[in-house]
Amino acid sequence: MRDVAIIGVSQTKFGELWDASFRSLIADAGLSAIEDSNIAGDDLDAMYVGNMSSGLFVNQEHIASLIADHMGLNPIPCTRVEAACASGSLALRQGILAVASGYHDVVVSAGVEKMTDVVDATPAIATASDIEWEAQQGATFPSLYAMIAKRHMHEYGTTREQLAEFAVVAHHNASHNPRAQFPFEITVDKALNATMVADPLTLFDCSPVSDGAAAIVLCAAEDAHKYTDTPIYVKASQQASGTIALHDRKDVTTLDATKYASQKAYKQAGLSVKDIDLAEVHDCFSINGILAIEDLGFCEKGQGGVVVADGQTRTDGDFPINPSGGLKARGHPLGATGIAQAAEVVWQLRGDAGKRQVEGAEVGLTQNVGGTGGTCAVHIFGREPNNN
Ligand code: COA
Repeated sequence: MRDVAIIGVSQTKFGELWDASFRSLIADAGLSAIEDSNIAGDDLDAMYVGNMSSGLFVNQEHIASLIADHMGLNPIPCTRVEAACASGSLALRQGILAVASGYHDVVVSAGVEKMTDVVDATPAIATASDIEWEAQQGATFPSLYAMIAKRHMHEYGTTREQLAEFAVVAHHNASHNPRAQFPFEITVDKALNATMVADPLTLFDCSPVSDGAAAIVLCAAEDAHKYTDTPIYVKASQQASGTIALHDRKDVTTLDATKYASQKAYKQAGLSVKDIDLAEVHDCFSINGILAIEDLGFCEKGQGGVVVADGQTRTDGDFPINPSGGLKARGHPLGATGIAQAAEVVWQLRGDAGKRQVEGAEVGLTQNVGGTGGTCAVHIFGREPNNN
């Protein structure tokens, strides 16, 4: 296997983007990443695109063909990858595997979702749960994560204030991110007193419904300096599966897929959690950000709320989490999220993250969850290759 480098990244603005179409979003992100990478058009061997549900959101299937055609890439192969909200990270992983194996030399891995064109996104998102046992019984994603939050509060004494603190940090970080959907500060009081969505989760405990796209260009590490002076290297790429339905879990306050994927990722990179300078984690709801911090090993089980309220996850804290603003405040266009997480880590490791920069960042991690944990992908990136 070859080491793999990231030589170009881009992300569109996330938000309710009425002036953009599905195809214009992915073309904007893909072509901007290609421009950032300095590759020539005929260097590109393949493209992988993460997308959860173009059929339900924009009534378009066969999107790989649409995208290659609209971006002017024909006859380069383009492939859609789907794993609900983890679709983007799986598209990234497919690109990494293709380059690492030597099958391709230069690929684009991208993600896109245009969610705001439907009147109600909730039923479409719910197709990522177990339809027979969850969605058809009335469960939605906010309600599933609300049950997880209730159990975490019961087991560990986590409070609504601690959940609100997670959202406050996210919005603060997003206020320094020009691509974020919600680039404004909030207070704990504002979060606690916002509309209740699914008890105990208020509006500010939820990621929004978003439009957006992101893209990354990968090549063999040995070729990276042909294109850029600041390649960022893939140190680990891991994926794991967990039960799709909550009722099949021994413990709903732990995502086994996160634990499994992260332990394998630390081993692959030859690192421990203490070596991670920043992480972009899957906070589709504030409680899931707290589970991520625990399951990735940043703190003891049950202490996620405490360390957030202590300020340890701020960009100047002991282990900065979601300097981009995360899904909560950067936005969460499902298929684009995993790629946007990786793009943020690349900007951080290049030292290009402006006011949200984590000082001296050398190694960053992404954790991207599909559904309530049926899929999890963990990637580790660094300024130096593994040399394996
Ligand atoms: N955080 C902060 N503000 C939000 C928000 C969020 N998550 N969602 C919407 N808003 C804001 C809007 O910008 C709007 O503000 P404005 O009045 O100043 O323009 C206001 O709240 C109302 O927006 P609206 O679109 O009517 O909200 P809604 O009530 O239809 O939707 C949620 C709110 C929380 C239900 C919706 O964002 C949601 O379903 N989120 C979860 C998405 C999800 O499940 N993703 C998959 C996770 S696995």
